[in-house]
Amino acid sequence: MRIVVVPDTAAMGKRAADLVEKEMGKHVNPVIGLATGSTPLPLYKELIRRNREGGLDFSTTITFNLDEYVGLPTDHSESYRRFMNENLFDHINIVPGNTHVPNGMADDVEAECENYERMIADCGGIDLQVLGIGGNGHIGFNEPGSSLGSLTRIKTLTEKTRQDNARFFDSIDDVPRYAITMGIGTIIAARKCILLASGEGKADAIKDACEGPLTAMCPASVLQLHRYATLIVTEDAAGKLTLPVED
Ligand code: F6R
Repeated sequence: MRIVVVPDTAAMGKRAADLVEKEMGKHVNPVIGLATGSTPLPLYKELIRRNREGGLDFSTTITFNLDEYVGLPTDHSESYRRFMNENLFDHINIVPGNTHVPNGMADDVEAECENYERMIADCGGIDLQVLGIGGNGHIGFNEPGSSLGSLTRIKTLTEKTRQDNARFFDSIDDVPRYAITMGIGTIIAARKCILLASGEGKADAIKDACEGPLTAMCPASVLQLHRYATLIVTEDAAGKLTLPVED
């Protein structure tokens, strides 16, 4: 696990964009896994800038998002499909049909999950997966206790995650209770992973993920097993690490 500490979120976005751009350059059809939430926004801003000003070409890129709420229509202000369109896809030259977000409105959720796994496999697997981390150590919506070998499936959100996400909804009662998420097994099957974290509120989760035991109680700790996992962490989020890191 490579841990890179950066001064601020802008530097985090640039370091992450460097890795995404480098990976994209290696493949005819790069397959990039993406996350929603506040953390990757500086990365998406930088990718948009490089697409517009630096010629970074997304026309053959394929993306798979980690997760989606169950029961929110795609045009709902908080659906992850809408988030991705508004914060990245609508601003770059990606082919809309090459962008995948689980369908949280599927009648048959189980079939949707199996199909999502199949689509990832049909594209040859994920070359590079971008991750955020929850305050409780979750990745995707794999909450503490999730099976480390799990594949895409429906999960019940914990109270902590619903509270963390309530800031985006009118009230906590409006926060969905279920989500479709890639499993931890799906995530670590990606050939490379980069996990981004910013803010003091992530410091405990980052310490547990990097220096704690490998445990389902901190799903992000599974990255300790991954051969190519890079964490790009702002100084405040890295504040509780005790072992030496790069900068
Ligand atoms: C979202 C996702 C989640 C978030 C995590 C952190 O697609 O996979 O695991 O990465 O909840 O969210 P933020 O970045 O809003 O703190």
